[in-house]
Amino acid sequence: MLTNAPRGTKDIYGSYMNTWKKLEDTVNEICTNFGFNEIRTPIFEHTELFQRGVGETTDIVQKEMYSFTDKGDRNITLKPEGTAGVVRAYLERKMYADVQPTKLFYITPAFRYERPQAGRYRQFHQFGVELFGSDKPSADAEVIALAANMLKNLGITNVELHINSLGGPECRKKYNNTLKEFLSKNIDSLCPTCLERYEKNPLRILDCKNEKCREVLKDAPLAKDELDTECKEHFEELLRLLDAMEIEYTVDPWIVRGLDYYTRTVFEFISKDIGAQGTVCGGGRYDKLIEECGGSPTPAVGFGAGIERLIMTMEAINGSNQDKPTRDIYLGYVGENAKKTTFAIVNELRKNNISVETDLMSRSVKAQMKYANKIGARYSAIIGDNELEENSVRIKNMETREQIDLNIEEIVKYMKENKNFLD
Ligand code: HAM
Repeated sequence: MLTNAPRGTKDIYGSYMNTWKKLEDTVNEICTNFGFNEIRTPIFEHTELFQRGVGETTDIVQKEMYSFTDKGDRNITLKPEGTAGVVRAYLERKMYADVQPTKLFYITPAFRYERPQAGRYRQFHQFGVELFGSDKPSADAEVIALAANMLKNLGITNVELHINSLGGPECRKKYNNTLKEFLSKNIDSLCPTCLERYEKNPLRILDCKNEKCREVLKDAPLAKDELDTECKEHFEELLRLLDAMEIEYTVDPWIVRGLDYYTRTVFEFISKDIGAQGTVCGGGRYDKLIEECGGSPTPAVGFGAGIERLIMTMEAINGSNQDKPTRDIYLGYVGENAKKTTFAIVNELRKNNISVETDLMSRSVKAQMKYANKIGARYSAIIGDNELEENSVRIKNMETREQIDLNIEEIVKYMKENKNFLD
């Protein structure tokens, strides 16, 4: 073999692909019901978009981006997440001039140079939604309800919604100072990463897993205690709406998220079925990002959900989706004459949207029937010289074992009548 797939990537096929398609169908249906329209933005963008849009102090921008210079000397980056590209498109395509709010969803590959482990890849996929133009708690509630509905429809029940408010820029500034003051007493105990964060983005220190840092943080002041009246009321109204929809949550003051752009609401859905990388969905409000990307002040809220993690959770709950691919009928043949007739009928069946396979391997009748079984055909029939001579073919229902004799030209009609069986 020439080479293997790059570390941290995955080939998507077989039963995994079946689950993937089911997930995509569910996502499409739910987003349509909620009035979100699909958007597809490029896989790569100018690097500066992510530097600005994701944040200079994030791990993503500092360590994890797949960046390169293209043949025209442009600095290009493979998208590490979905939001920045959608914000760029919202501004560039002047979507703000349409009726607001703008409600968009996407399914996209994303790339981060992280240390691969279960549930963490270098190429992964995100299902995400972004809602632009409303600063109301009802917009946050709508986005969270969409995520909760999606998880429920996928059969993912063993998840907890953790939610917090970081407050607006003023509250954050105040909180950063309080936190820094608190940390300054134990600054020598902080790890090198946190020391750097101390200057640039102290809030992210709350996310550190280092034991010494955790010890320092035990009694740290929390953002929720520094909220001003407006931010507090925003958060409380959101919680009331979640209560009204019977969406359960835990207010978790330690949720700060790994990206710089959040203001006020932040949330994560955490699965208890898939180990350390249990965050299947994360998001929040980012009221300043559009301005930072060059637009007029526009509030926004959204989330991103890791598709691989969702599938891991679905498989942990239901086992892997071993459903065989099904066909309406396997129509085999023996001999050269029967082959032509069979190919003509197979072609006719396909024109009528009936899923059918025939022999492409010159197999014996026995081997053809084995194949029919393996691919999960609901019906099977074999045409040979006898069948041609008597113009009669025996169709077998592979599940009930019932058999019925038909004229050869009746096969298409019979299958059209029985096709619904598969639906
Ligand atoms: P994020 O938390 O960085 O947020 O990623 C969202 C989700 O993508 C995570 O909860 C996780 O399920 C999945 N994910 C992230 N990194 C990996 C990885 N290396 N391998 C597998 N799955 C991964 C964002 O990206 C924001 N853009 C979300 C957002 C949208 N906020 C507002 N709008």
